[in-house]
Parts: sequence; C-alpha cells; structure tokens
Amino acid sequence: MNQHQKPADIIPSHPLDPITTGEFTALKAILEEAGHGGEDVRYSYVMLREPPRDVIAAFKPGAKVPREISVLVTHLARNEPYAIVVDMAEGRIAEERKLTAGKDGEAPIFDQDYVSAEEICKADEGYVAAMKKRGFDTMDDIRCAPLSAGVFGHEDEVGLRMIRVLSFWAKEPDGQHGLFSHPIDGVVAHVDLTNRRVLRLVDTGYTHIPQDSGDYLDPEITGPMRTSMKPLQILQPEGPSFDVQDTCIKWENWSIRTGFNGREGLTLHDITFNDKGTERRILNRASVCEMVVPYGEPSPTHDWQNYFDAGEYQFGRLANSLVLGCDCLGEIRYLDAVVADDFLNPFTIENAVCIHEEDYGTLWKHTDVFTLKSDVRRQRRLVVSFFVTVGNYDYGFYWYFYLDGKIELECKATGVVFMSGRPEGEYEFATELAPRLGGPIHQHMFSARLDVAIDGFRNAVDEIEVKRLPMGPDNPVGNAFTRTITRLGSEKEAQRVAANDKGRIWRVSSTEKTNRLGDPTAFVLVPEGLPLLLADDESSIAKRATFATKSLWVTQYDRDELWAAGYMPNQHPGGAGLPEYTAGDRKVDGEDIVVWHTFGLTHFPRTEDWPVMPVDYAGFTFRPENFFDRNPTLDVPPDPNKACCHKDG
Ligand code: CU
Repeated sequence: MNQHQKPADIIPSHPLDPITTGEFTALKAILEEAGHGGEDVRYSYVMLREPPRDVIAAFKPGAKVPREISVLVTHLARNEPYAIVVDMAEGRIAEERKLTAGKDGEAPIFDQDYVSAEEICKADEGYVAAMKKRGFDTMDDIRCAPLSAGVFGHEDEVGLRMIRVLSFWAKEPDGQHGLFSHPIDGVVAHVDLTNRRVLRLVDTGYTHIPQDSGDYLDPEITGPMRTSMKPLQILQPEGPSFDVQDTCIKWENWSIRTGFNGREGLTLHDITFNDKGTERRILNRASVCEMVVPYGEPSPTHDWQNYFDAGEYQFGRLANSLVLGCDCLGEIRYLDAVVADDFLNPFTIENAVCIHEEDYGTLWKHTDVFTLKSDVRRQRRLVVSFFVTVGNYDYGFYWYFYLDGKIELECKATGVVFMSGRPEGEYEFATELAPRLGGPIHQHMFSARLDVAIDGFRNAVDEIEVKRLPMGPDNPVGNAFTRTITRLGSEKEAQRVAANDKGRIWRVSSTEKTNRLGDPTAFVLVPEGLPLLLADDESSIAKRATFATKSLWVTQYDRDELWAAGYMPNQHPGGAGLPEYTAGDRKVDGEDIVVWHTFGLTHFPRTEDWPVMPVDYAGFTFRPENFFDRNPTLDVPPDPNKACCHKDG
C-alpha cells in the first residue's frame, strides 16, 4: 500500500453496502499501480462482488467487512479487455482474466463513443457525400446516434469495437425535442471505434426526410395548456409509515436492504417479512439484470437494431435525479447513488432512488348479509423505484411491496419512440406516426433475476396449470377441473414458457418449512404471459438474447452468475449468460436456487405514442401461496381517518 488512502479506512459497515466514493478512488489507484491505468484505459461494470452466503450470514456489525469489487478494464489501443476482481481490504488484485475481444464480446458503449460517432462520420467522405445527396451542404445540423452494433457475420468487424450510426436532422432551432422525428434514413455507417474510421457505409438510396415537428414542448403543437386540473396533494401529516436507516427500509413487516450499481441500477437484498415476530426470508436479492430492445424492421438500415440497455449501455449510470412533486408525489425519501464514469471517477446521482408509500384502494371488504355489518380495510404499498434515460427511451423500474405479502415489479416504458423514414403506402414493419415518419415495430424484453430464499436457502420450483377433466364415472356431470403440479427438477427442465390459457404459474417453495397444515411454504411467480422474443430462432439476436426465448429459467446459485445475456453482451456472438449457466443441467430441486423471469412489451407504435409516448407497462407479481397460515392483514385497522370503515347495520 503506497501513498493512496488505505481502502481499509474507507470500507463501509455492511458487506452489501454499495461501493462508496472512497472505494472507487482506492480501486482506481490499485488498478493503476498494477498497470491498468492511464489515458488508454477505460473501466466498466464496476460492481460489488457480493461475498458468499456463509460470509454474509456470519457477519457481525462492527466486524471487518469483506469487500471485493469486480471491474472490466479495457486497454483501448490494443482493444484488450480484462475481467478483474480487486480485494479491497488487501488492496490488491485477487483475480485477473484476460478476455478475447470478439469471442467474449466487447466492452460496453463508452461516453466518448457518442462524440466519436459524430466526429468519425462527419470526417468520412462517403458519409458527407451521402448527406449531401439528402440535401445537407454542411454537417452542422446533423446528429449521429452511436448504436450498439450487434453481430451480423461481418468478419472484418471481429475484434474491433464497433458501433452503427443512424443520423437525424436537428431541424428545430432551439433544443432537441424534435430530433428523432427527422430521421435521415437510408444511410447507416458501420463505425470502427478501435481504428476510428467508417468501415462500411450502407446507402439504400432512400432520401426522404420526415418534416413534421416532433417538439412536444412547442406551444404550436401542444396548444394552450389546459386549466381544468385542480391541485391534487398527498398528505401524510405524521410522516410516512416507513423508516429508512442508511440503505435499509422497514415498512409494515417488510424489511429491505437496497443497493445500487452502474450496470443494473437498483438492487434489493435481504427481503424479509416479519410474521408475528419471526423474520421470514423471501428473497436474497432482486434486480432487473438485463433488458434488450430488438427491432422487427427488415430493411438494411434497421435489421441490426438490438440494444442491450444494461450490458451495452449500463443503464444504472444513466439513472435520473428525481424531483419531488414531479417524479414523485407525497411524503418521499430519496437515496443517492454513487457510480463511476469510464475513467473510474465516482459521481453522485442525487435522489436516484425514490421511496414512498401509496394508498392502493381496497385491501379486503365484506358486508355480512345476515348482520348487515360492513367491514373494509384499505390496501397500501411501499414503492421503491428509479428511472433511467437510455437515448430516446426512458424506463422506470418500480418495485411494490403490499400489506398482504405480495411483491410486484412494474417496468414503465416512456420517452420517444425510435423513428425511421417510412416507405410510401402499405408497410407492415413500421407504423406511420406522422407523414412518412415510421415507428418501427420492436420489443422490450426484460430479465428479472430473483435470488429466492423462501424460508431459507433450500427451495424448489413447481409448474402449476389448470386441467380440464373429461366427463366419466368420477365426473358424472362434467363440472370437475383440477390443476397439475409438476416439479422442475433440473436447470434444463426448468426452462419454461408462459401459457395464460392454462393459467400457468411457477411456485417457489421451501423444501424444509411447512405451514400449520403441513403444506410447503411458498411464493408464486405470476407472469403476464405476453409474447417472448419474436425474432427467428436462427437469428443473431436469438443467440445473443437466448434468455428472452423462455419466460422462466432456474439456476443453482453461483455468486458470479448474474447476467441473463452474459458478462459482456456488446458484440458477443451468442450463447452467453443463461444458456451457458444452465449447460451443466444442475439439480434445482431442494437446492440454493435463482429464478430468472423474462417479460416485456411487444410494441407496435401508434400515433398516440408520438411525439412523446405515454407510459406503457410490463412486469410480474410474486405473491405468497400457503406461506402465511391465514390472511396476514387481519391486524390492519380500519382507516383511522374515516368512521365508515366499520359500520353496524
Ligand atoms: Cu417501445
């Protein structure tokens, strides 16, 4: 240990605490000392490497905190990526693995790539000529979008950091609100970032540029602001019912530890429910570990569009600073997030995570028809959320915890639809949003990684679905129906697709604990059951985002298996992540397991999505089934504000 501050002085107080500003700085010094520093080096995926289960379990407050940080280090000129783990307490590199650019993928998009896209294209004769053909004598009003390149069989791209660039006309004079409504279609530049050149320019000859303004703040488009909306305020005069201590939230029997990292954003840990004095564990960790946006338009300018927003764009770093009264209404507590840029310089995203509670209508209600007594209780939920902006789109991730033990994830998609030039006449692959302005069809596929721990670490998953029964001696009038329960014994057996017509759900149960009736305590994953990845099975994206071809995956727990599409999905040829993790077909019955759920939106844009899109939703619920011995909300009192909640007849 040399001049730099000793990491031991700045380690936080719990093994799962997010990486601190001081730790980022110390990490950089350690890496520099080991030869992984200088102008040529970039750092990505800076993550706490969470300690093994037994180490966390044995940890006592005040004791020395075990601390490892993993980071992808890229030496740009040689384009050499290294996966490195640093032992922060020891102040040294614990593991270093040189990766092969190309075969193992490429480092994610760097901040500088946004600038490079523009510089490289505008310095390229062919690009300038293509723009001139479309009426641009100067490059001043052209904006270049650095889009992750994917893998499409171009041998000359292997081992190079690539992006593909689509261009837009900044037509509106002040501000960029309308930028995406003026796609300069027909041209895509395949840009080699390693050698800073346009490797290939595709020009289809399409030259039309949509003209309608998409400036959603322009009074000429919005019209006068309506004046009919009266103030709507949420008041909690005695404060909220939750309590936040450092990164831990306690609310109505729930206990949740929060974390945050630059790749996946918010992570939730050690989620327990206090059941009459007993802390019962439900999840060790929960996050949205990947999201991919594959496009369905087959033209040469758009058929390669697939963006992995976590693995390629590190959406955690792109989290918004939330604003009270705008993003969040009511009695709010915020958590800041500290992440690092490509140079490992830490920066703070203030108010990155929003915590509040919401009224959610009726919890339960009954009017006794004999006594005419009426009882009703109100439902509430705790909301832990964050919002990110990735290029044109904005995504909100809202975790809900309900009084009755239910957990829900709601992903919100909003922002500006990616737009294209649209051929005249019938064209099935892009909606016409404005004259000749296309909204290409696409999907948003999310992967939620649920490190389950229903009453402990030994869990199993059953697939449950309804079953019709034929009329017969045991079913004389044909009214009978039942359900089938199938244990998913191994990782390959547990790759399943939702089927809403069968009411298919997945039950995660303890193999050790039972309720008072002898049934295993369990939670059920209820999928929305919307379409999975629609691209052909042989397509590049099906190989690179194989996670999105199944609704359910179950793996044996491994602390380094965190990424549904693999560690380095940018330009990865495919097969990484879940297909690789499950290749050994490990047993998942009565083991320490992780449940992965794919869900998402299939988006056929509509005119109402332009020029800015009202929020659309995708998610799932995870709710108790035979976990509690009875309705766990019988102790919820009538609303103290209202006399009507218990009414004698
Ligand atoms: Cu969309």
